[in-house]
Amino acid sequence: MSSASDFPRKLLRFETLDSTNSWLLANAVRFSDDDLPLVVVADQQTGGRGRSGRSWHADAGTLTFSLLDSLQRLALPRQYTPRLALIAGLSVAEAVESFVPPKQASIKWPNDVYLAGGKVAGILVESVASTPERVVIGIGVNVATQLEHAPLEVQQRARSLAQLSASPPPLTAVMHEITARIEANLQTAVSDFAEIVKQLRLRCLLTGKTIHWSVGDTQRTALCHGIDEYGGLRVELGGAMQSLSSGEIIRW
Ligand code: BTN
Repeated sequence: MSSASDFPRKLLRFETLDSTNSWLLANAVRFSDDDLPLVVVADQQTGGRGRSGRSWHADAGTLTFSLLDSLQRLALPRQYTPRLALIAGLSVAEAVESFVPPKQASIKWPNDVYLAGGKVAGILVESVASTPERVVIGIGVNVATQLEHAPLEVQQRARSLAQLSASPPPLTAVMHEITARIEANLQTAVSDFAEIVKQLRLRCLLTGKTIHWSVGDTQRTALCHGIDEYGGLRVELGGAMQSLSSGEIIRW
């Protein structure tokens, strides 16, 4: 792992991109391992992508950036890719709450970040098709997003840091806080993933709640018992306990 001073090692800033994730997926081959971790930030993202094929609304007040790294460099086996999403979620939660004390952020497993009852940040982790050990972690944070101009469903469930603080922090300050937390949490995860799980459990939005998720065309409902030692979501379904390793909780 690199020292704090070179995380990220390279930062590229664009005035406008359709999607920082899409740009990195398409251009990853242009960068050598020496360039990693590499951050791409867009002042304006016009075609942001969310999880499950959804779009991600952003305006000039939204922080939109993606980080390209390699599992090899991070000393993480490929089967641990889902853990990256959890680590990113924890890092974003820690970072955003540091700007609005004493509020604490929650994590809607696996990695949506909530503040004051609304979603303040979303994360999309994708692998580079040609080199699957390279991963892109895309992060969108509603810092000073003008939510009144957002689509209705975004207005109904989103929050911005600006709504929760007298003066919203600069976007770059939020980005640097997030990357610093990611670096620290990645280092912790390699030697002590239990500590990451402990921090995730403290912020788990779903523990104790009845949750609904879809599997293909059907919907499942279960009682959530929190996060297991591997980062999966423990649910009680039909009297039996099981762990979800991926998926999207649609209602709770
Ligand atoms: C979600 O909540 O569904 C995930 C949203 C992820 C949005 C970020 S913004 C930067 C990066 N580029 C994208 O196109 N998506 C991610």
